[in-house]
Amino acid sequence: MIPLLNKNELDNIRKAGAVLRECMEILSKRTTEGTSTKELEVAADDFITSRDACLAFHGYKGFPASICTSRNNVVVHGIPSEKEILKNGDIISIDIGVEYKGYFADAAKTFAVGEISGEARRLVSVAEGALSKGIEMARAGNHVQDISWAVQSFVESNGFNVVRAFVGHGIGRKIHEEPEVPNFGEPHKGKVLEAGMALAIEPMVNAGTSAVKILDDGWTAVTTDGELSAHFEHTVVIAGGRVEIVT
Ligand code: MF3
Ligand code: CO
Repeated sequence: MIPLLNKNELDNIRKAGAVLRECMEILSKRTTEGTSTKELEVAADDFITSRDACLAFHGYKGFPASICTSRNNVVVHGIPSEKEILKNGDIISIDIGVEYKGYFADAAKTFAVGEISGEARRLVSVAEGALSKGIEMARAGNHVQDISWAVQSFVESNGFNVVRAFVGHGIGRKIHEEPEVPNFGEPHKGKVLEAGMALAIEPMVNAGTSAVKILDDGWTAVTTDGELSAHFEHTVVIAGGRVEIVT
């Protein structure tokens, strides 16, 4: 069952989303050469705890950190480290989950560190565009895979590939709820969307093939061909006739 959330529940998700958005803005100013990914995590921790919220990934299924920092060929679930220092030309994806009064929001963004290559810039912009295309389809009466298809067709028509091993998801009383929201699919397939649903839509876009593998730490997902990967995610609420981005 896809949970339907009442007004009070949606307001708590909005609050979680607002705090997350502010956190992302703070971190975006620190994605500069010389910063360690651990420093990004500490900055997120400091800010979120000052807002009576918490970082939802902390300890989630044993995840050994509080946010995910995924650099260059890392697709998702990168673990922040003081040994990992951002350098000019990197792309860095930051993925944050926030819990506020028992309700969740989830978002990710990929940032350029200094001057990045033209191809990297195009990858990041296509991944961000794919998220927008998906969000446009998140309307009451549409099917889940209308979102999936919008993402996939935009990415592939730009010559890149969507990751299939990880998917977006419902969100609300837990960080992961039904339904799964794949980044590939066919129009008019999957569950029908209704007002009161909340979704985390999150295209992961690879410059090379869609194949990924998990490193020995059990978390870090990398492209098997070593090519770059970008990730954008928003939490959205399906309202009456429209979609509301809460992050
Ligand atoms: N945004 C990611 C997701 O929805 C969060 C990863 S969860 C963690 O799957 F385990 F890495 F914390
Ligand atoms: Co997510």
